[in-house]
Amino acid sequence: MFLGTQRVNALGRLEIGGCDTLDLAARFGTPLYVMDEALIRSNCCQYRRAFESRLPGSVLAYAGKAFLCLAMCKIMEEEGFWLDVASAGELYTAAKADFPAGRIMMHGNNKSEEELVMALDYGVARIVVDNAWELGILDRMTQERGQTADILLRTTPGIDPHTHKRIRTGQADTKFGLNIHNGAALAAVRQALDCPNIRLKGFHFHIGSQLLDAHTHHEAVRILVDFMREAAGETGYQAEDLNIGGGLGIRYLESHCPPSIDEFSEEIIATLQKALAHRKLKPPRLMQEPGRSIVGEAGTTLYTVGTIKTVPIKEEPGQRTYVAIDGGMSDNPRPQLYEARYEALIAGKAGQEPSELVTVAGKHCETDILIWDIRIQPVRPGDILAVQSTGAYNYAMASNYNRFRRPAAVLVKDGQAEIIIRRESYDDLLLQDGVPERLAGKP
Ligand code: LLP
Repeated sequence: MFLGTQRVNALGRLEIGGCDTLDLAARFGTPLYVMDEALIRSNCCQYRRAFESRLPGSVLAYAGKAFLCLAMCKIMEEEGFWLDVASAGELYTAAKADFPAGRIMMHGNNKSEEELVMALDYGVARIVVDNAWELGILDRMTQERGQTADILLRTTPGIDPHTHKRIRTGQADTKFGLNIHNGAALAAVRQALDCPNIRLKGFHFHIGSQLLDAHTHHEAVRILVDFMREAAGETGYQAEDLNIGGGLGIRYLESHCPPSIDEFSEEIIATLQKALAHRKLKPPRLMQEPGRSIVGEAGTTLYTVGTIKTVPIKEEPGQRTYVAIDGGMSDNPRPQLYEARYEALIAGKAGQEPSELVTVAGKHCETDILIWDIRIQPVRPGDILAVQSTGAYNYAMASNYNRFRRPAAVLVKDGQAEIIIRRESYDDLLLQDGVPERLAGKP
């Protein structure tokens, strides 16, 4: 599978953004996240076209949790996207990139007062309030500080998307949001309307991630429109914004067939328009906040292959070959967390048929298998392994486990490669350490 600008060049090697991946590995070292700028921008453009052509004025916000750094903020600003931030750290990054406050949405199921102060002081466009307790705090803070806040209420539509259990959020049994069915959401509308410095702008839901069809979104949109009708009937409140979260899945494996951005948007917008007409409601401004479908397929991680060993096993084919790489769960924890599966190839032999069945093992002091049983080109120590679709929730979830240094990320485009996140140094690893004086002397 070749994604975005990936292709096999004249030397038979994998090229991304016009850059030979073997050259990238030699120049920047491995593990290395390679981000395909043209694909990121073309995904943004597809979202823009899909929404602008059907519902002009819709808002697209990039969910920064998927992959955030200063350069990403700049790209999203240029692409005309808003930014969804989910923590003080993400907001701080956006602020340092001078991302326009009027295009930032602040999320979080348990925002601290510090985070709310930052959001108010930076003047973010929307605070997405998750629960009644937060609403109470925000009410007090806005009055004490003489500030106003434009908010959305995060609702829980009570439906279960079919995705990995750890990335489902739409069902009633979730820590997120205000349940529509038990009256919590309507109570929060009443509460918000009573807050003098809070302007309720509308509603939000996010039902889950890596969804390979739009079924659950249809249902959620219908439930939300019914709720908007109910809220209007009960309180006279008409929602101006409806934010339908993120969730569109990507191709991790060749066998994955998510709908295209255009198909996904077409289906959801058609359902929304039908439901609004049925309920005779004024159309709210539609907001969507994709993360994975913007950056996921645009990322490839390059690793160097080290030791290779074959052991006998009971099952077919009678043996397993472990190919060890110089990274693992610290740069990509998704296989461990979500049983995520990936495709990979030997970058220097990208033009050859995959012929060897191997298991790609990470370098951490535990099982740490990155990919079980995958067919790749003949592999030798020193080869560069390229793992695809690692753009979302990889760097974002990377850790320093075993005191590994987090890898660098390069942005590639038209044959140019530039560092957007520098590789951590050994000194970076010690930056936060301190030694109490009683331990500092020699025994
Ligand atoms: N909006 C909200 C409120 C969210 O919680 C999320 C993702 C998104 C938007 C973006 O969703 P996306 O378009 O990326 O599906 N670490 C997990 C994914 C967690 C997603 C959390 N929320 C993974 O690696 O699969």
